[in-house]
Amino acid sequence: MQAKERVILALDVNTEDEAITLVKKLREHVGLFKVGMQLYTAGGPQVVRRIQDLGGSVFVDLKFHDIPNTVASAGRVMTRLRCAMFTTHASGGTEMLRALAQAVEDEAANLGVKPPLVLAVTVLTSIDQRILEEDLLIGGMTVKDVAVEWACLAEAAGAGGVICSPLEAEEIRAVCGPEFKLVTPGIRPRWAAKNDQKRITTPGDAIKLGADYIVVGRAITGADDPVSAAMRIADEIEQAEGELSVN
Ligand code: C5P
Repeated sequence: MQAKERVILALDVNTEDEAITLVKKLREHVGLFKVGMQLYTAGGPQVVRRIQDLGGSVFVDLKFHDIPNTVASAGRVMTRLRCAMFTTHASGGTEMLRALAQAVEDEAANLGVKPPLVLAVTVLTSIDQRILEEDLLIGGMTVKDVAVEWACLAEAAGAGGVICSPLEAEEIRAVCGPEFKLVTPGIRPRWAAKNDQKRITTPGDAIKLGADYIVVGRAITGADDPVSAAMRIADEIEQAEGELSVN
């Protein structure tokens, strides 16, 4: 896998036109395009198809969380849409995750296509210890403990990977299998603005901590020269991979 293929560009824009402009500019320089709630609710599956028509692989980030039958049905739709990966919540539980993973596998087999990677969100990085204990009523555990437990639960239920903070990646990598994919947002190269992200990691450090893919938005889209920003990030990943293979 080339280093640039590990970069997922977050298309956090409101319109299909803005998204397509970014895709055209950056399709040679990143691995996937992430269509999240903002863009999907504005543009629908049509945006995904247009990106695919331009040769882009799509990560649909809608974080499904519902009863097993409903989430499984959404997973079949994602499979028919031919997205490369999509998200659900690990906190939906084993039954929901199993139904989803099975539905995706069945639908892909029926179509004769590769199944999309089912990624489970562990603990959102916006959730801190207070929210965990006082709002979600999960006591006696740290956020990191919960993230690791939910990653294990997701893997056992058939998910192909998780979305996690790079700061949790090392622990999750240690307990989950080598094929289990870790996708980490909250990435900022040293040369980029932090914006509203607080617990951030550089692209190279995220890879060294065990991430397979990194989600990057504004460090690329907000750069004066997005193409060279994407190239610099790919270089940093390549360098980190080199250091990992030496150690
Ligand atoms: O612009 P920036 O690189 O901060 O964008 C990060 C992307 O990753 C956004 O689409 C954001 O919604 C997403 N994300 C995140 N932190 C999480 C989960 C998702 O920043 N914990």
